[in-house]
Amino acid sequence: MNDITNNTAEIKKRVLSAVQPSGMLTLGNYLGALKNWVSMQDEYDCFYAVADLHAITVRQKPADLRAQIYSTCALLLSVGLDPQKSTLFIQSHVGAHTKLSWVLGCYTQFGELSRMTQFKDKSAKHADNINLGLFAYPTLMAADILLYQPDYVPVGSDQKQHLELCRDIADRMNNLYDNLFKIPEPFIPKIAARVMSLQDPTKKMSKSDENINAWVAIVDKPDDIMRKFKRAVTDSDTKVCIGEGKDGINNLIGIYSAITGKTAEQIEAEFEGKGYGDFKKAVGEAVVEELRPIRETYEKLIKDKSYLEEVYKSGAQKAEYVASRTVNKVMKKLGFVL
Ligand code: TYM
Repeated sequence: MNDITNNTAEIKKRVLSAVQPSGMLTLGNYLGALKNWVSMQDEYDCFYAVADLHAITVRQKPADLRAQIYSTCALLLSVGLDPQKSTLFIQSHVGAHTKLSWVLGCYTQFGELSRMTQFKDKSAKHADNINLGLFAYPTLMAADILLYQPDYVPVGSDQKQHLELCRDIADRMNNLYDNLFKIPEPFIPKIAARVMSLQDPTKKMSKSDENINAWVAIVDKPDDIMRKFKRAVTDSDTKVCIGEGKDGINNLIGIYSAITGKTAEQIEAEFEGKGYGDFKKAVGEAVVEELRPIRETYEKLIKDKSYLEEVYKSGAQKAEYVASRTVNKVMKKLGFVL
């Protein structure tokens, strides 16, 4: 048994994940990550963070960033995360993240970071601000993870490359310093691991997309959700089925499947002889009903700053306890004087 477990968690495996507070979270965030976070909280000892330090790798207006951190905290609670079961915290409240990130950076190669597709994409998009933080982003993410010695990291498939780098860094340091870190396993859902844009289904659904019809926010109103699904780009075929060149329909089948629990075959049978219009309407309605209670809870919670504060402060205390033990162990083994 490693030494980072506490009494209540002794028999449970540990989970860690995080989400950036950049803009409104999307249906992609929900199906690719948050929905799984919720389903894991009974079985595992879960740590979930609002990764605010990651958000400033691109420029943020201070007032917007502050509002987005609050809204992300409120959303985590609204989707069903229970602070009695899971530790919910804000990354910048636990100093060990930036401390370990520096250390890991000294064991990460320039070439490794240069190969990260997210870095390449973001530096193309923000060519006037290719800063050190953007480049070193994966070492901060590795610190977020390794500090908590988790068994699993539930993420969408776009984070797989970052997770592989995290495992490589941990493995490298374990070989040098004798078992510093547990090597975490990615936990990527089989369905909806990469929810695609509704306007260009060859691209990931992203909150930074300027086309408002390309993505669905978790807190979108029913009318907006229906409009976005009705306008979803599909193809010139008419049959609702998985197929090559049918990226739009494949994406809608994935979304419908993740929400209803039906398999692709069941969905194909359900829409046999019906057109794309009927199918898009059904997907829209399923999404509306899934997100309705979340939005309603969110609207109440976002007004209750003192409750949000209570949750993230107590979360930070629990996170700090675990994280500081790991970082102290690392510093000691590397030869620092404590
Ligand atoms: P972020 O904030 O972009 O996304 C949060 C989670 O949502 C998933 N996701 C998606 N899944 C399916 N389809 C999509 N279209 C989609 N868009 C986003 C992401 O895969 C992610 O799981 N670097 C991370 C945040 C982070 C983190 C960590 C994650 C910081 N530290 C430690 C895990 C562990 C990020 O930018 O995710």
